[in-house]
Amino acid sequence: MSHPSLQEAEAEADRVPGSALSARLYDPILWWGERSGLSRSREVLLAEAGGAVLEVGAGTGLNVRHYDRDLVERLVLVEPDRHKAAILRDRLGQVNLEGEVVRAPASMLPFGDEVFDTAVVTLCFCTVPDPDESMKEIGRVLKPDGVLLFMEHIRSDRSWLGALQDRLRGLWERVADGCQCNRRTVELLRSGGWDVDITHVSDGALMPPVARPIVSGRARKRQGLAPGNGAREA
Ligand SMILES: C[S@@+](CC[C@H](N)C(=O)[O-])C[C@H]1O[C@@H](n2cnc3c(N)ncnc32)[C@H](O)[C@@H]1O
Repeated sequence: MSHPSLQEAEAEADRVPGSALSARLYDPILWWGERSGLSRSREVLLAEAGGAVLEVGAGTGLNVRHYDRDLVERLVLVEPDRHKAAILRDRLGQVNLEGEVVRAPASMLPFGDEVFDTAVVTLCFCTVPDPDESMKEIGRVLKPDGVLLFMEHIRSDRSWLGALQDRLRGLWERVADGCQCNRRTVELLRSGGWDVDITHVSDGALMPPVARPIVSGRARKRQGLAPGNGAREA
């Protein structure tokens, strides 16, 4: 099947919101959260990443130091925002890790079908404007027995916090580069044709309450159902 070209993907990436300032502020904003458990959650999640690995929405590269060089044969890091992509390239150099940085949105990946063994998405399904399309596209490039490793903040089951997240969604979206604090990512994955195994739930103590809880897990394409069929934003 034909897939988007690199040029088409880059042109689409240019439409994704982002700025030099928000790219520079990203790591300092996450500093406390990383030290209070996020970094450890990344480490545990990525210990399973192997073979040909695709990370989508890789941001400034907070995951790169956690990849196991003995397991990863090829690393492709997709990040649409040119400012974050530049920081990501620097970070790869700092840890001396080989990786290809590609500017593309999650919904338009310039790769063939069933190329990757592992897909990694952390704190990104909350931000993509089209989670159903993005999940479907990731499913397209993942091998049939491939695994999607994810770590995402999701809408809380606690009634007061879920209601607060619903109320603050619009404001949070404006201050946090499009992030949807009340997204039901796990439900979207399941309804989109993925079998999801949640491996860790963190209260994310030093993250803002609107970005809690944070769930980690793995998802595999359900046999006989193309990922993306049926996924709907709640
Ligand atoms: C909250 S940051 C997370 C960055 C990184 N994954 C991490 O764990 O720190 C969200 C990332 O998603 C990226 N993003 C936004 N829209 C996107 C899209 N349509 N497709 C792929 N990535 C997107 C942003 O540029 C940003 O780097």
